[in-house]
Amino acid sequence: MRGVIPNYHHSYNFFFFVVLVLFHHVFSINTLTSTETLTISSNRTIVSPGDIFELGFFKTTRSSRVCDRWYLGIWYKSIPERTYVWIANRDNPLSNSNGTLKISYANLVLLDHHNTPVWSTKLRKAVKSPLVAELLANGNFVLRDSKVNVPNRFLWQSFDFPVDTLLPEMKLGRNLKTRNNNFLTSWKSPNDPSSGDFSFKLDTQGLPEFHLLMMKDAIVYRTGPWNGLGFSGIPNMQNWSYVVNSFIENREEVAYTFKLTNQRIHSRFTLSSTGSLQLYTWSSTLWAPNLVWSSPVDKCDLFSICGPYSYCDIKTSPICNCIRGFAPKNVTAWILGDEFDGCVRKSPLSCGRGNVFMAMKNMKLPKTSTAIVDKRIGLKECKERCIRDCKCTGFANADIQNGGSGCLIWTGDLVDMRNYVTGGQDLYVKLASASFGH
Ligand SMILES: *[C@@H]1O[C@H](CO)[C@@H](O)[C@H](O)[C@H]1NC(C)=O
Ligand SMILES: *[C@@H]1O[C@H](CO)[C@@H](O)[C@H](O)[C@H]1NC(C)=O
Ligand SMILES: *[C@@H]1O[C@H](CO)[C@@H](O)[C@H](O)[C@H]1NC(C)=O
Ligand SMILES: *[C@@H]1O[C@H](CO)[C@@H](O)[C@H](O)[C@H]1NC(C)=O
Repeated sequence: MRGVIPNYHHSYNFFFFVVLVLFHHVFSINTLTSTETLTISSNRTIVSPGDIFELGFFKTTRSSRVCDRWYLGIWYKSIPERTYVWIANRDNPLSNSNGTLKISYANLVLLDHHNTPVWSTKLRKAVKSPLVAELLANGNFVLRDSKVNVPNRFLWQSFDFPVDTLLPEMKLGRNLKTRNNNFLTSWKSPNDPSSGDFSFKLDTQGLPEFHLLMMKDAIVYRTGPWNGLGFSGIPNMQNWSYVVNSFIENREEVAYTFKLTNQRIHSRFTLSSTGSLQLYTWSSTLWAPNLVWSSPVDKCDLFSICGPYSYCDIKTSPICNCIRGFAPKNVTAWILGDEFDGCVRKSPLSCGRGNVFMAMKNMKLPKTSTAIVDKRIGLKECKERCIRDCKCTGFANADIQNGGSGCLIWTGDLVDMRNYVTGGQDLYVKLASASFGH
């Protein structure tokens, strides 16, 4: 035993040891003060409390280029495969290994070898007391007044500037006060962190839902609207192990966020450079990432693959099926397997009476940009409203918890539907009674 436990015969030595340990833990390990700098040459990093995240400089070397590119980023400290969760200067790398991060004039700035800023927090407010930058246990890098240590009273936070990764407690969506809409943007390629072709963004037109976009505006995949349990186009979201999903909708924000039920489980939500959304979890004792969910998962996930008034069923051949009462718009194209034109009504809708509703079960709800929501009424009133509204093409419950509540009404073409074996929800499509049964 003697050899193992250090001998602190001298109380003085012990005192200094304690002070050193305290100093190490209380000061400067997870912070950058206004008098400190973080340089590439010092090799110093900032480590979050709990040792999960590490902030520092890293470089990538692209085969086509001789020169290195240096970035300021955050990665997991202890997982063997280097995985970056945030990057400050993804589109503005440093071209050599002379770079400095410091607090200057109430901003965090990253300077290159000419002392020119390549990145900064761009804050305009003057702050009198010294600022401090701090890497929090959840991976959020924040800038705050050194005298104000209140959660969420940050002058700036990296969580507001996502790269390709959503961490637990981070929010993705629109801040209604600042009008900011946070979204993920993929890396250009697995070893090039610059902004790539894919993004994952909340669409707030009509009823909010997330879209996976290519080249900023072409929809590749949509999650569908939030139905109380999950997104309509992610049928088993409520069954993800250790993950609690939430969709926040209030006066301040419309956003998705998630947390974990177990402190020893870690997780990240990432948009890959090839446009795949992926959710991983792993445990802190064993680095064996588990792919919980990814999308697009099959052809039926691809946006509007079947065109309007047609739904995708991965078990049928062809996978596209006209809704009952509808027929292929272009029969020749449909037979050739080109179903993008979708289907058209066999009989036109009349305004008012003479219409019926076709109930479809286990559905991913159609695109919601023309949908309207009324959370106060139920399915019966929803149907009445759809009957009265000549433009209404279909309706559904807004929330499927506890037997269903709220009302969604579509006033345009019904696009991008699929059915599921389990999950999804009931959708009611308006038809002319003349076409029902045909
Ligand atoms: C930083 O790391 C590099 C490469 O490992 C090494 O050459 C250099 O001496 C280190 N600098 C300091 C200040 O430790
Ligand atoms: C980096 O560049 C700055 C500005 O030119 C210079 O003052 C500093 O000495 C350089 N540091 C190193 C390690 O070369
Ligand atoms: C989720 O889990 C519950 C209970 O285990 C099960 O009944 C349900 O079918 C699952 N939902 C989906 C969509 O897989
Ligand atoms: C229908 O589809 C065929 C095959 O793609 C195409 O040649 C034809 O022009 C289409 N007809 C109309 C009316 O769009």
